[in-house]
Amino acid sequence: MTFKRTLVTAALPYANGPVHIGHLAGCYLPSDIYVRYLRSSGHDVKFICGSDEHGVPITIKAKKENTTPQAIVDKYHKIMGDAFKEFGISFDIYSRTSSKTHHQTASDFFKTLYDKGAFTEQTTEQYYDEEAKQFLADRYIVGTCPKCSNDNAYGDQCEKCGTSLSPTELINPRSTLSGSKPVLKETKNWFLPLDKLSPKIKNYIEQHKDWKPNVYGQCKSWLDSGDGLQPRAMTRDLDWGVPVPVQGAEGKVLYVWFDAPIGYISATKDLIPNDWQKYWKDKETRLIHFIGKDNIVFHCIIFPAMLMEHGDFILSDNVPANEFLNLEGDKISTSRNWAVWLHEYLQDFKDKQDALRYTLCSNAPETKDNDFTWKDFQARNNNELLAIFGNFINRTLVLTHKYYEGKVPNATNYTKEDLLVLEELAKAPEKISKAIEQFRFREAVGELMNVARLGNKYLGDTEPWKLIKTNEERVKTIMNVALQISCNLAILCEPFLPFTSQKLFSLLNVQPLKWLSATQTSNMVAGHTINKDELLFSKVEDADIQIQLDKLKKSKMENEANKPAQPIKAATTFDDFSKMDIRTATILEAELVPKTDKLLKLLLDTGVDKRTVVSGIAQYYKPQDIIGQNVCLLANLEPRKIKGIESQGMILMAENANGELSFVAPVKDEIKNGSSVK
Ligand code: 2FM
Ligand code: ZN
Repeated sequence: MTFKRTLVTAALPYANGPVHIGHLAGCYLPSDIYVRYLRSSGHDVKFICGSDEHGVPITIKAKKENTTPQAIVDKYHKIMGDAFKEFGISFDIYSRTSSKTHHQTASDFFKTLYDKGAFTEQTTEQYYDEEAKQFLADRYIVGTCPKCSNDNAYGDQCEKCGTSLSPTELINPRSTLSGSKPVLKETKNWFLPLDKLSPKIKNYIEQHKDWKPNVYGQCKSWLDSGDGLQPRAMTRDLDWGVPVPVQGAEGKVLYVWFDAPIGYISATKDLIPNDWQKYWKDKETRLIHFIGKDNIVFHCIIFPAMLMEHGDFILSDNVPANEFLNLEGDKISTSRNWAVWLHEYLQDFKDKQDALRYTLCSNAPETKDNDFTWKDFQARNNNELLAIFGNFINRTLVLTHKYYEGKVPNATNYTKEDLLVLEELAKAPEKISKAIEQFRFREAVGELMNVARLGNKYLGDTEPWKLIKTNEERVKTIMNVALQISCNLAILCEPFLPFTSQKLFSLLNVQPLKWLSATQTSNMVAGHTINKDELLFSKVEDADIQIQLDKLKKSKMENEANKPAQPIKAATTFDDFSKMDIRTATILEAELVPKTDKLLKLLLDTGVDKRTVVSGIAQYYKPQDIIGQNVCLLANLEPRKIKGIESQGMILMAENANGELSFVAPVKDEIKNGSSVK
């Protein structure tokens, strides 16, 4: 099927915090690349996004900052919109779900489904805070985790052991609003009977075997799981959101995951009030949702179910969800301030938006979670953008000025080598298009860099700076070819590196050209004058990287200092404790256990014997640094084989809030090896 137009949506981020690199890598950068490519190729495309301003995440943030939900969304809607703009994320509209259009659209949508009898009404028991006089969303209830005894588990999840919970499973539940013990109270809500809709949804998903395997796989596992799909409440007892437009629903709002995706429709209405229906109701429109993996079920199952029940709308053609991006080996976390915030990045790396875009695209979590490290960022900037792309452009521009006063020379006589290079250049747009169209952005940006490599190698092979003395005529052709490559690079890099593209076009003194022009190799016309040369990229120094690493270290330390200690475990007996034979010892030798990155094999002097212990501390200590280290050893732990090595005992370690380990040792030197620890 061919399409006349494409509607691209990017997940509406909650307006409860600034944007970080995880957001960019997961959703906004790939969608922007896709849309920029479509625009450049002359497609009819609209790019929709906005702030998700309802739901519990917003009310929690307001409570934390001691203000109103409206003040929170106003603040972050602006911060987020600005950050996206600064990074060149080229939404056609960045709307918000608190807008009048959205409230009306979401309300009407619900009413249509209600009138069609699409919902079932169910009365359930929910926790209610009698002091605060309100029902409690799962996140507003904390209590003891039934699995790991964590005292601060939430009503939907224990963040310590990761178990999904329902509020009634918590031991000693308490309300975070008043601290009081909540009571169960009956309440009526409207449910979408996903169980009944399951065959239709299944049929829809199965028509999309072409979706990314991570997306298709997750949908299938939801559909095929033991209990199958279950009815899901589409309304909530909450005072922040779109009021439920039904009699008897006072004090209730639409479930945020009901109203948020409708936000795509309302934003389109705001963008093109007279034309929006074409993008949502015409079968010749292709609808594509870019999201992160935590949003898959909502976009692939619940939203399509809503659209099917409504009946007027097209369904999504693709949902290219990404996995998660980690930061320096750890999950990105707003509450732990373990993130690279876009607004902070720009303060430290002024005008270097494209360096971050390039790194995040080259290392995008397309098929699995990936890690962002500052060292990798530095290497990609210095060794790729600067050393390959920038170097090629700079040499081309400088030589054009030096030999021809900035005028494009005439190509008089192509050699076989020139023709091969031009042929390769003309093939590049198709290679890049193909990868982008299949949502393989890492591959696409790799192909782009291959064009820069082609240019760099061409100059290196032909060495015009040497030939100029002996074969002036030949140099004209070489420089003409190099300028053609430069111009096509400006076209091809636009989706990925829009700031660089703009700068390069301006250096070449050429009006920005569209994708199709990159299939030509004659865009730079002989006699045309280019502008004065300037560097496209600048180096990222070690010191710049160190500042970022220090910032992260500071976050870790603050986190550590702020984290409350774990509650004391259940009582044990002195007898049980005395069964443990803990001794002081010294590390004599240390080496990494082959083929592992966590384990060290240690030889210890225990005062009684010399013995081998395998310890999982390699992430925290280097073997050469711990020779002579005093430690405490649980010496009578049953020996155990670890990676084929018999480990005789266990070294005691203290663990900080970030899970990092550190030795525990006697503080006085006169304590000899073999002394008991009691
Ligand atoms: O996960 C989130 O940040 C949600 N606010 C995404 C919503 S996407 C869409 F449905 F609007
Ligand atoms: Zn737990």
